[in-house]
Amino acid sequence: METKKVTASDAIDPRLVPQRTLRGGGKMPGIGMGTFGSDRFSAEQIAEAVKGAAEVGFRLFDCASVYGNEHLIGEVFEDIMKTGITREELFITSKVWNDMHGKGDVLLSCAKTLKDLKLDYIDLFFVHWPFPNFHPKGAAPDYHNADARPYIQEEYMETWYQMERLVKAGYVRYIGSSNMTVPKLKLVLRDCTIMPAANEMELHPCFQQPELFQYCFDNGIQPIGFCPIGSPTRPDRDKTPDDVVDIQDPIVAKIAKAHNVHPAIICIKWAVQRGQTPIPFSIYRNEYASNIRCTVEDLLTDTEMKELAAADKNCRLIKGQVFLWDGANTWEDLWDLKGVITK
Ligand SMILES: NC(=O)c1ccc[n+]([C@@H]2O[C@H](COP(=O)([O-])OP(=O)(O)OC[C@H]3O[C@@H](n4cnc5c(N)ncnc54)[C@H](OP(=O)(O)O)[C@@H]3O)[C@@H](O)[C@H]2O)c1
Repeated sequence: METKKVTASDAIDPRLVPQRTLRGGGKMPGIGMGTFGSDRFSAEQIAEAVKGAAEVGFRLFDCASVYGNEHLIGEVFEDIMKTGITREELFITSKVWNDMHGKGDVLLSCAKTLKDLKLDYIDLFFVHWPFPNFHPKGAAPDYHNADARPYIQEEYMETWYQMERLVKAGYVRYIGSSNMTVPKLKLVLRDCTIMPAANEMELHPCFQQPELFQYCFDNGIQPIGFCPIGSPTRPDRDKTPDDVVDIQDPIVAKIAKAHNVHPAIICIKWAVQRGQTPIPFSIYRNEYASNIRCTVEDLLTDTEMKELAAADKNCRLIKGQVFLWDGANTWEDLWDLKGVITK
């Protein structure tokens, strides 16, 4: 329960926001705030946005060590909790980066994140990518790491079992996967002791990943949708000439016009009503305030939801080509398009 009423004039009551029920019955807000600035915004700007987002009603924050801003966001979390919002009302995620998959490193990575975020525990801790492959900040689109390796189940599970130790030790409530495919998740579900509670995956109207989405639901794994607006200002390394722009999609644009809102708002409404948990990013208060407000008012009709289902172009934006290994062909090798894990 909230201990203090939110007072900002652009705020909504967080108790009205749709909630997700996680494995075991725990609750998570049905929308969160992203904290990756696409290499465009400073850590200070993003931390300030987190503060504002809490003021307007966000309670879920999607963090990661690789975003390079957890130390400043931690200070904001401390401030937020001084305003009367309790730790239990917040739902904070973070992720272990690809260069910390080694034995013991997951624990170190979690310890660093806890220190930076100034927390006793993380609500949901993800393996950011299923590969131990590293790229430097601001990597060019054709960056190639000679040490990069394909997915190796034994290595992933070595990392996963360390994630499980974090749950058993009480440092993490739930663990999750990210940037996975159905064939990879099937193996994890076969071998894990603690199931993933959530899978963070790219999801927006032009990239709906219906098979993986359904697989997650069927197995009690909550899909968390990144790039929910189609990440219009993502880094150049994640842009190719064939990419479509969700906020210019004719179906999205038509429905936005009917509701008299920016197409970004339609992307978010669609995501929340479909059942995934979108984590839109913005540093602009008017944008992030409308991003959460739109989840509680002027919902999409069933007809509009059906129309949006037809907007899928199977257009993946975050292709991950900087993680390719020697001998791999194209970025598609990262995503097991033939239904088996690409070696
Ligand atoms: N697990 C992973 O591997 C992974 C990968 C990628 C992202 N993520 C997470 O997902 C989050 C979101 O992804 P993202 O930032 O790439 O993409 P996004 O949320 O789809 O797009 C963000 C951009 O959309 C625009 N926007 C936001 N709200 C708007 C509104 N109400 N009206 C108009 N425009 C609006 C903003 O552009 P302007 O700044 O130009 O206004 C903003 O920079 C990240 O911050 C991160 O936390 C995770």
